[in-house]
Amino acid sequence: MSHHLDAIVNARLQGKEGLFSLEMANGRFTQIRPQLNPVIPTEKQLDASANLVCSPFVEPHIHLDAALTAGEPRWNKSGTLFEGIECWSERKKSLNQQDVITRASQTLEMFAAHGIQYVRTHVDVTDPKLTALKAMLELKERVGHLVDLQIVAFPQEGIISFPNGKALMEESIRLGADVVGGIPHFEFTRDTGVESVDWLMELAHKHDLSVDVHCDEIDDPESRFLEVLAAKALKLDYGTRVSASHTCAMGSYNDAYCSRLFRLLQKSDLRFMCMPTENLHLQGRFDSYPKRRGITRVPELLEAGLKVAFGQDSIRDPWYPMGNGNLLRTLDTGLHACHMLGMDWIDSSLELITDNGAAALNISEYGIEKGLPARCIILQGETPYEVLLGQQQALASIRDGKIIMQREYKSPQSALTN
Ligand code: FE2
Repeated sequence: MSHHLDAIVNARLQGKEGLFSLEMANGRFTQIRPQLNPVIPTEKQLDASANLVCSPFVEPHIHLDAALTAGEPRWNKSGTLFEGIECWSERKKSLNQQDVITRASQTLEMFAAHGIQYVRTHVDVTDPKLTALKAMLELKERVGHLVDLQIVAFPQEGIISFPNGKALMEESIRLGADVVGGIPHFEFTRDTGVESVDWLMELAHKHDLSVDVHCDEIDDPESRFLEVLAAKALKLDYGTRVSASHTCAMGSYNDAYCSRLFRLLQKSDLRFMCMPTENLHLQGRFDSYPKRRGITRVPELLEAGLKVAFGQDSIRDPWYPMGNGNLLRTLDTGLHACHMLGMDWIDSSLELITDNGAAALNISEYGIEKGLPARCIILQGETPYEVLLGQQQALASIRDGKIIMQREYKSPQSALTN
């Protein structure tokens, strides 16, 4: 079979009855047509076999520069974010460009095998040589056939609190980083945290770049940099370009404060990223019992009309020893941790790893519609519920009308007996 397709046939689409054929030409969808009956595919058609077809998965928050370094030079024993930063600081000394490219490529291949075609990676730029950033910029050019990669200039050890932090951020933008990052809760004081948010927002605005801040990734209910970020975004009328990642402290805020905060969040229209597996592991580490989940208020944000995306954050790095690239695992964990196993949430859950991620990453052409790039994946299951129950790997990934990944379908029964 040629890797260029004319159509995907016998496809199910979310929220729609019956089967569909998704026709494509020159890398774009040309027609989405309901089928009266199942059809036998021709040579240039791909058979979805009545499985659900959806837009490619979006990994909105990962640290590719640190991926696959767990245990080097030592394991994170306490399991805290802060010991993770210390371990990484030691590992960082032995970084070279090839080391970063090799591990990041392996991770991206893992992602491609799971149907991810859009990735936003944070890259630590608190390094006077900017080794990881330079490597990632080089890699970005090479992986365009598999994924769209956005690079965040991420000041892991602070902007104000790290020597030459501001200059390193500016240099990262000059070299080609796509997104401006931040970490206000790691700056030495409340004041320097506020100063860092103000400074990075001005930097992004000046260069017309998006913003993605590691914001309040701590169980401290007094960590309130989200309101600073949202107020600044509102002032600059820039909210749809700004993502607040983690916002774990929101899980510890009192309800009266939250009700005031949500008014500002709605006005500013920020985007949110929640990393459930990572934060279940890292947070609650200073609690005895009862232990907090350390996760932001996902259903409440969604009910307030705000966009929330789930991400993996880490793949076997100093912060998190697990991870395999399967966003369905992340989704499953997040739905459990956020009390979102009601059927309405399950039915709409794929948006947490598709549409909401695309909105946060400001991807302009995303979806299964006539005229849009012919990008989609075939999942294993007819409905989101079945897909979640199985957590199986995607059967195929199609990018601009071309098959970039395909694997054989095994029924759950044969998977057990083979
Ligand atoms: Fe992160």
